[in-house]
Amino acid sequence: MKSSISYVCEVCGYDSPAFMGKCPECGTWNSLREIKVSNQNAQLRQGFVGQAKIEPKRLSEIKFEEKNRFSSGFSEMDGVLGGGLVPGSVALLAGDPGIGKSTLLLQLALQIASKQTTANRLQQKRDAVVRSPSAVSEVLYVSGEESEQQIKLRANRLKTSKNPSASSGLLLLSISNTDAIVDVIDKLKPKLVVIDSIQTMESENLTGLSGSVGQVRYGAGEFIKVAKRLNITVIIVGHVTKEGMVAGPMVLSHMVDTVLFLEGEKFTGVRILRSLKNRFGPLDEVGIFSMTGGGMNEVKNPEALFLNSSKEPAPGSVLTATLEGSRAFLVEVQALAVFSKFPMPRRVGSGVDSRRLELLLAVLQKHGRLPVENMDIYVNVAGGLKLSDPAADLGICLAIFSSLKSIPVNKAVGIAEIGLLGELRAVADFAKRVKEARKLGFTNIIGADKFKTLNEVIGNVSK
Ligand code: TYD
Ligand code: MG
Repeated sequence: MKSSISYVCEVCGYDSPAFMGKCPECGTWNSLREIKVSNQNAQLRQGFVGQAKIEPKRLSEIKFEEKNRFSSGFSEMDGVLGGGLVPGSVALLAGDPGIGKSTLLLQLALQIASKQTTANRLQQKRDAVVRSPSAVSEVLYVSGEESEQQIKLRANRLKTSKNPSASSGLLLLSISNTDAIVDVIDKLKPKLVVIDSIQTMESENLTGLSGSVGQVRYGAGEFIKVAKRLNITVIIVGHVTKEGMVAGPMVLSHMVDTVLFLEGEKFTGVRILRSLKNRFGPLDEVGIFSMTGGGMNEVKNPEALFLNSSKEPAPGSVLTATLEGSRAFLVEVQALAVFSKFPMPRRVGSGVDSRRLELLLAVLQKHGRLPVENMDIYVNVAGGLKLSDPAADLGICLAIFSSLKSIPVNKAVGIAEIGLLGELRAVADFAKRVKEARKLGFTNIIGADKFKTLNEVIGNVSK
């Protein structure tokens, strides 16, 4: 097979046949890297890819059955995927280093391996003579980051690995050579392959170190090809770092079928899994997990994490109902307002956007007539959640008001956006949020349906 040289921009992925000092696409200097690509054109012109003849199929002949989907073993993750993993598809799991991608996927691999071996055992019982060659080779976990021993050590912490059929059905491979991995996959034909991580994968077919745009693109391309060829599921891990951001997941997101993002504060246990792209399911769905000493736990009732269980009156605390994907859940917002010693009072928000906080404080000062201008204000969202939903505006304002005036409103649920004129605005899916609040026994719901302005709300709760 002949090969040709191509120059790819490390920043934006622009592909050029000739070297240039400056990328014409994104304007970055000195970012083009030489990559060698094997040339299959001669073969393609004769109507073959490898051994397979190229032939178009009739639409009516193509079968896609929903029942082919299989569960990841996590219902929170299946929901995000739109009903489970799809054979022949490639998903990218992106996230900050250390957020829990390897842990989540090792658990997933163990869960699928345990189901698989049980199914195989039943099959073997039925048919004791013909032993399926793939009896114990259904899930392959490839790590370019950790040795097999390190993976074993991690697995020992996980509850799933206590199940003996899970650990016997899972194959580990600790190498980072893309082409060697594809060979192994071709031989084993596993049902699921995890590649951890794409930034560590490297091939001798092209120049460039692991993690460079060329290597990342080549690796992903090869894994996508093998997934489609064998109709198996591949999950690729991609780290997102400030510098590596573009070299990793950004370049890949248009190549893969599904992009999942795992996020959370590293020091709180809450992890949120989102789908940013999904060819087979809904967008913006979320799954909620918590990182524990024994791996990732699914959180089916997020309130447990985001609500303070105290039923005592506590000034400075209020509830709001936030929307994540199609789910609504209650979150506690806490605020502390104290007289400031500084000419420039401090405004510290964790889990709320600091510019949004400034804006809401200005509205409280002007329209709520609260003396916030000489107070230090701290706002915190329980559970380490990030509130970007504008419906939390009223909750944030009420929490600040409550702390400032020492008036407890901790059983109230504030659900409204606040405009610059101090008016309350209706928010998306209000009914769904109200339902969630009522389900948990909160009946004092404050929204734009009953009150027109922030002032009215403040007047009402001060009574
Ligand atoms: P990891 O899955 O290695 O992150 P990533 O692959 O995204 O880089 O997660 C590493 C962190 O998770 C590390 O700080 C240790 C912690 N951890 C737990 O809290 N519980 C566990 O059961 C495991 C295996 C790890
Ligand atoms: Mg990892």
